[in-house]
Amino acid sequence: MAQQQITLLGCGKMGSAMLEGWLADRNLDANFTIIEPHQTHLGWLEDQTAVRLYADCVAAIADGAPVSTMIVLAVKPQMMDDAIAGLGMMKHADCAYLSIAAGISTGWLKQRLGDNAIVIRAMPNTPAAIGKGITALYADAPDHVRDLASQLLAAVGQVVHVQDESLMDGVTALSGSGPAYVFLLVEAMTEAGIEAGLPDDLAVELAKATVCGAGALMAAVDTTPAILRENVTSKGGTTAAALAVLMADDGLASLMTKAVAAAKARSIALGE
Ligand SMILES: NC(=O)c1ccc[n+]([C@@H]2O[C@H](COP(=O)([O-])OP(=O)(O)OC[C@H]3O[C@@H](n4cnc5c(N)ncnc54)[C@H](OP(=O)(O)O)[C@@H]3O)[C@@H](O)[C@H]2O)c1
Repeated sequence: MAQQQITLLGCGKMGSAMLEGWLADRNLDANFTIIEPHQTHLGWLEDQTAVRLYADCVAAIADGAPVSTMIVLAVKPQMMDDAIAGLGMMKHADCAYLSIAAGISTGWLKQRLGDNAIVIRAMPNTPAAIGKGITALYADAPDHVRDLASQLLAAVGQVVHVQDESLMDGVTALSGSGPAYVFLLVEAMTEAGIEAGLPDDLAVELAKATVCGAGALMAAVDTTPAILRENVTSKGGTTAAALAVLMADDGLASLMTKAVAAAKARSIALGE
């Protein structure tokens, strides 16, 4: 691939995580133009010769920022309209757009970027910050655009391709928001351990290590989560007693279904 010119619009939590992955990717030959109004958290970019940092697009254009191969839209959904309006001359017929915003459809983006604009959409999640994210990519676009987007997203973890854009709201609700559900699980297990008489620090250490260890085990073996669960559940034992509560009709599955449905509804609403 020829050298790429990547513009990142919004370098907050997710933008920074992606940029870190891109800079570490030795197979990615690219220069980066970063547009981010608040830069106090970006001191680590000072020594990066491939990165040019600007507060807004006007400053980038005035400084002669190159035409972008791809503009990655990584602002909050609520800021997207203003952010796109601010792109000005950075919009160019030759560039493609990759949005990671929850809820915002490619149709909505094309209304603002032009009907002929190449617009693709992805949903990463926060483990991207340590290269362990999973991103769903919806890319109805030429191969070279899909390949570049896949490479950018693979720099922060696993990439799965989604053929139907309407699935992106469910993806957002499951894996985009999902890390928060797991953190809440650790919080809930910690509280339950304290309630069971454990000291606070021991409870949090046990809860965290249990979730991390179970996740690592699940990733390491070729066994379904259901079989892994059955493997640690002996009839009449302690785990079975707990699972009888968690797997009751109004238990975890029912709660999780309601939670994911609520997140999906919110994703749909953000796009309206
Ligand atoms: N965090 C996640 O877990 C996650 C997961 C998947 C997808 N996403 C998506 O990723 C996007 C970014 O989320 P985030 O968590 O990284 O949010 P964030 O930390 O708030 O980052 C967004 C950054 O964009 C800046 N910004 C606002 N307007 C701008 C403009 N016109 N031009 C350039 N930069 C501008 C914001 O500055 P100010 O703070 O000054 O507004 C902020 O620093 C969202 O659309 C979200 O749906 C996030």
